[in-house]
Amino acid sequence: MTIRYGIVGSGFVAGFHLRALESVRGVEVAGVTSRTPPTELANEVRKRGLGAGVVYDSVEELAANVDVVALFAPNFTRVPTMEAVARAVSDGAQLKAVVCEKPLARNLAEARRMIELAEEVGVPTAFFENQLHLPAMQAARLQLAGITEAMGPLGLARAAEEHAGPHNAWFWDPQQQGGGVLSDMGCHSIAVGWYLLTPPGRPVDYLVPVSVNAEVGLLKWGQSRWRRELLDQYGVDYGETPAEDFATGIVTYRDPETDRISKAQFTVSWMYDKQGLRLLIDGLGPGYAVELNSLRSPLEIFIGGVAAAGVEDAELALEKATASQGLLAVQPNEPDLYGYVSETRDLVDALTTGRPPMLDWSYGFQIVRLTMAAYMSAERGITVDLTDPATVDEVDNYLPLIQQGRGREVLPVAD
Ligand SMILES: NC(=O)c1ccc[n+]([C@@H]2O[C@H](COP(=O)([O-])OP(=O)(O)OC[C@H]3O[C@@H](n4cnc5c(N)ncnc54)[C@H](O)[C@@H]3O)[C@@H](O)[C@H]2O)c1
Repeated sequence: MTIRYGIVGSGFVAGFHLRALESVRGVEVAGVTSRTPPTELANEVRKRGLGAGVVYDSVEELAANVDVVALFAPNFTRVPTMEAVARAVSDGAQLKAVVCEKPLARNLAEARRMIELAEEVGVPTAFFENQLHLPAMQAARLQLAGITEAMGPLGLARAAEEHAGPHNAWFWDPQQQGGGVLSDMGCHSIAVGWYLLTPPGRPVDYLVPVSVNAEVGLLKWGQSRWRRELLDQYGVDYGETPAEDFATGIVTYRDPETDRISKAQFTVSWMYDKQGLRLLIDGLGPGYAVELNSLRSPLEIFIGGVAAAGVEDAELALEKATASQGLLAVQPNEPDLYGYVSETRDLVDALTTGRPPMLDWSYGFQIVRLTMAAYMSAERGITVDLTDPATVDEVDNYLPLIQQGRGREVLPVAD
């Protein structure tokens, strides 16, 4: 059985997924749709031999002609797109699953609505958090399983994702995206920390989140020179509606069987003016440790000043590459490195064997909750106690000031 995949959105991540799909069997890209007809993406589908890539005018038409709808459009389109998917299913579309890229939603009200819509029409969900599928992460968990058993689980995890800033205007707009780097990339690093600490063989949400303590900052893009650049390039004014370009925090977890406490630290920024995207993940256990750095590659290219032409395509060498001269790290297979291949294989295997995929939307919901708790902690200067039902209720109905477009009340914007 070949799974007929339908893609909504035709930007950066859709392109990355096409590259990943070249390494996945049992799936074809049957259709695509986007805000405007995605002819380029459809051509790419056919050029790569990935399927018919029929361009549909609407989400409803796409859903009626595929087995899986993958939501790869911007965060602010989640709920209306899911409403269209639900309409299509009510009208007879036979979907085996609906996939959502991270984050599930901008806040918990939207996340609840996403889940409600899927449940109303009975469509199984899959959540794409690629960093849990990093082959290096899976290899680390496999290698550490025996050591963890003998010595005890990891006590501290640290996860960082950084680059020099997103590639499209809506990411920078806190109301459209849901915030700044904490909403965009904190969701990855929070998920990674939780997963790395989770003992082998346990569900991804086995460890109970106890508290969240976080800070956010606007350290680069609030300065006038960089604000001007954002305004010129993307039409986004951080003088009026700033978002954070740095966030860090600690999530504390409790093992429900042993009461043992562990901690996961996350750090994310849009001010990493180095080679390109870097994932830096490490874990410390009693008597052992693990470390992953996505910039370490067996391949380096050096281009001196006289070779002024630079590399042919800096972004093809490394995601978010900022240089085309000097000592360049090159990752020849980023869709595999970052886990896009493995997460799609997991989906296809789940659908063909009838088991649930590794992550579903209820997991995506919990990551949004931790992200919202981090915003609340930073905004109020408190540790958010997730063992207190009244606090959880407050988090569940909370909209960060930054997401409301009121970032000036909490972020310093230099004149
Ligand atoms: N897993 C990851 O590491 C990762 C990386 C990048 C993006 N993402 C996620 O993927 C999603 C898309 O990000 P991107 O980088 O591709 O953004 P992008 O801006 O590059 O592309 C977005 C695409 O969606 C289309 N679009 C806009 N409004 C639409 C609508 N109403 N209906 C259908 N299509 C619409 C745009 O025309 C564009 O083709 C976001 O939710 C983002 O968080 C995940």
